[in-house]
Amino acid sequence: MILIIDFGSQVTQLIARRLRDAGFYSEIVPSTSDCNYYIEKKPKGIVLSGGPNSVTKFNTPRAPDIIWNGIPILGICYGQQTLCEQLGGKVEANTKREFGRARLEVIAECPLFHNLPKETDFDVWMSHGDHVSELPDGFSVIARSTGAPFAAIADIERNYYGVQFHPEVVQTNGGSQILENFAKLICKCVPNWSMAAYKIQAIDGIKEQVGNTGRVICGLSGGVDSSVVAKLLHQAIGDRLTCVFVDHGLLRKGEAEEVIELFSNYYNINLVHRDASQFFLSNLKGVSDPEKKRKIIGANFIEVFDEEAQKIAGAEFLAQGTLYPDVIESISVAGGKHVTIKSHHNVGGLPEYMKLKLVEPLRTLFKDEVRQLGRELGLPEVLIRRHPFPGPGLAIRIPGSINADKLNILRNADAIYLEEIRKEGLYNKIWQAFAVLLPVKTVGVMGDARSYEHVCGLRAVTSTDGMTAEIYPFSSEFLSHVATRIVNEVSGINRVVYDYTSKPPGTIEWE
Ligand code: XMP
Repeated sequence: MILIIDFGSQVTQLIARRLRDAGFYSEIVPSTSDCNYYIEKKPKGIVLSGGPNSVTKFNTPRAPDIIWNGIPILGICYGQQTLCEQLGGKVEANTKREFGRARLEVIAECPLFHNLPKETDFDVWMSHGDHVSELPDGFSVIARSTGAPFAAIADIERNYYGVQFHPEVVQTNGGSQILENFAKLICKCVPNWSMAAYKIQAIDGIKEQVGNTGRVICGLSGGVDSSVVAKLLHQAIGDRLTCVFVDHGLLRKGEAEEVIELFSNYYNINLVHRDASQFFLSNLKGVSDPEKKRKIIGANFIEVFDEEAQKIAGAEFLAQGTLYPDVIESISVAGGKHVTIKSHHNVGGLPEYMKLKLVEPLRTLFKDEVRQLGRELGLPEVLIRRHPFPGPGLAIRIPGSINADKLNILRNADAIYLEEIRKEGLYNKIWQAFAVLLPVKTVGVMGDARSYEHVCGLRAVTSTDGMTAEIYPFSSEFLSHVATRIVNEVSGINRVVYDYTSKPPGTIEWE
């Protein structure tokens, strides 16, 4: 395992991604973690990430002293600077920030640059306001750039390395190779991290945690994360798993039927299906404030889930599809509070009074690793590639108050839109595509008659993690075709618009 000590860079997760992609298991811990934690993990190498602070300022984070005990270390950007400062070198503030592409000139042999083009120098991505000005004893320069005379440094004897640039971002040519070289040639790690291996490990882990008699409840939503958790648990403990599918009546067309068909009929997993759509709808009646809607849905969900869970005799564990980014984000490096843009509702947020022990087999995985695991478990591709769908469902795709009629109109429009996207082979190129039903009516003309119906908004974005997003650039022919179909086939809609807003400043969902 390679341990990544996080100093708060926006791209720390990418270091773990690149290493795992190359087959090396890696984990991220905040620089503020307890030192003993590092020892227990027994890493074969340590990466010190970049970060927003300045080593030259008082009271900025440092690597814990315990790491300088013979383990190979690679410092990136802030990581390189703190490494130098802590080992006796000097760091100074730049007169101006260096940001963007820079040409790297490799001037000495070093395993870090193994297998990279020797005859040409290559481009790297820089983003820093400080630079190393004096090397610690034992270090020498292995590469330089115009703005950074110590762009890459090494103490080959002690296996300490530092780079001023960011090898984890795609803008650095050969960046993945540099990280792979560190893991393989310097830390002597074996590239054995794969989802096939993880599956076996996770199943063993569940068996050990749950024991021979323990019973587990798993909330199923129809999304890929909870489906993978359910399938994994079923392989580990069979009938001692009961899935609870709370149908809040806010799902897309045919979605509830698909979930039931797949899990209870096809996989033969104990499934409690609770159709609570009336309960949710009546509690949401007349509520138009987005945050209130989310809160009601979250609270109703817990109530219904709890009711069903109480009926499952002897269940003492609750399985959840918590992912690695959720884990990392919840241990904020700065320890500060995040601004709430929307209160997210997930099966995850169950209250403590339920007294169930958590089973979280996806806690160390990124989303695309979960998809890979789903394939290893034999889940169908349509489910694995399904676009993310928010916990509050269609309720947040109908701005303002909702009712059964509006939900039906939206379901029909959404189904046509997705059918056309699939037909064009675009579904897997898009992170999320969906229709929104607007609470405004506009005038139209159908045949010879006047119509006065709702407006439907179409949204499609590309993204890697949902944190930022770009609109998907459909052809105008495609959009007019979808608009014509929706207006002709969905009664209740007479106008269709396409949302051209990226995130930020927009969010992906409309509420
Ligand atoms: P926004 O709208 O915040 O969405 O740009 C970012 C991603 O999160 C999804 N989303 C949710 N997922 N519960 C969820 O499980 C929620 O309450 C929720 N709200 C938004 C959204 O679909 C997008 O993928």
